[in-house]
Amino acid sequence: MIQNTLDASPIQVVGQQAHAGHPFPLILACRTKSASLDDVVAWIGTQRDRLLAQASTSGAILFRDFPLTGAEDFDRFIAAFGLANFPYNESLSNAVRINRTERVFTANEAPPDINIFLHHEMAQTPVYPSRLFFFCEHAADEGGATPLCRSDVLWERLAAECPQFARDCEQKGLRYSNVMPSHDDPDSGMGRSWQSTLRAQQTEDAERRLGELGYDWQWLDDGCLRATTPVLPAVRKLSGGRTSFFNQLIAAAQGWKDSRNDPSKAITFGDGSPLDRDAVAVAARLADELSFDVPWQTGDAALVDNFVTMHGRRTFRGTRRVLASLIAAE
Ligand code: FE2
Repeated sequence: MIQNTLDASPIQVVGQQAHAGHPFPLILACRTKSASLDDVVAWIGTQRDRLLAQASTSGAILFRDFPLTGAEDFDRFIAAFGLANFPYNESLSNAVRINRTERVFTANEAPPDINIFLHHEMAQTPVYPSRLFFFCEHAADEGGATPLCRSDVLWERLAAECPQFARDCEQKGLRYSNVMPSHDDPDSGMGRSWQSTLRAQQTEDAERRLGELGYDWQWLDDGCLRATTPVLPAVRKLSGGRTSFFNQLIAAAQGWKDSRNDPSKAITFGDGSPLDRDAVAVAARLADELSFDVPWQTGDAALVDNFVTMHGRRTFRGTRRVLASLIAAE
């Protein structure tokens, strides 16, 4: 029999933050020991609107001790929210990922010693998801936390410390450049081939897609493709009068590094002028100070509002399987 009264109550963990009286992240623990996945799905059905509102207000929700054991369970958990999927193969993400179900994929296949810097998912492209779900199928032996950072709080602090830089971000926007390989490169955090990224087999198809999206591009001698985005916003207005630092500036300026990419060439203001390196360092420092590291336990799931909260990945040892799923913007 399906119970509609699953008990999930807030818990606190070390290092958890609070902003404007709301916990960050909100952590809900399932207290109903005998709960089945059907119970969870029914509970989400009745709590959906409240949970989505809480994810926006708090920035993220961590679900602990829910009866979820693998990709299929996670898929059902997400589907219960009744939100539109944002398929990886249609995204312009530069990460290599492997699908486990139609809507669930491995979070990033980059090697354990690669630190993935804080970012808003796909904010370096014209199409980005509104929300992300994560699921810890297997926690790493050591490390491997997902740092989360409240981007609206970051924006307030950054605007106070670097007002000119903040004005430039708001007024000029940003352009990003990256070099895509001609074959998936699993050794890189940004190793997705141009064929896969652009869903194109031939260079002409790739050029058509880039043209539609407003990109500039250049073919390199080794078959790689350098692509530069149109001007994209660096900030986003949120509900409640908040503003978030909605971009990939920190990740691009610090982390877009592999055999093909140099972070110093990855990003400029929308008018082509260089970013103030000191201000970028301040943004990275503030983001780091504001980070909460999700202490993954196997079976944990998380809902992250992509407009409010940045995420990343710490380095780790051992096997780490964190799955992800993206929700299309409405
Ligand atoms: Fe990401």
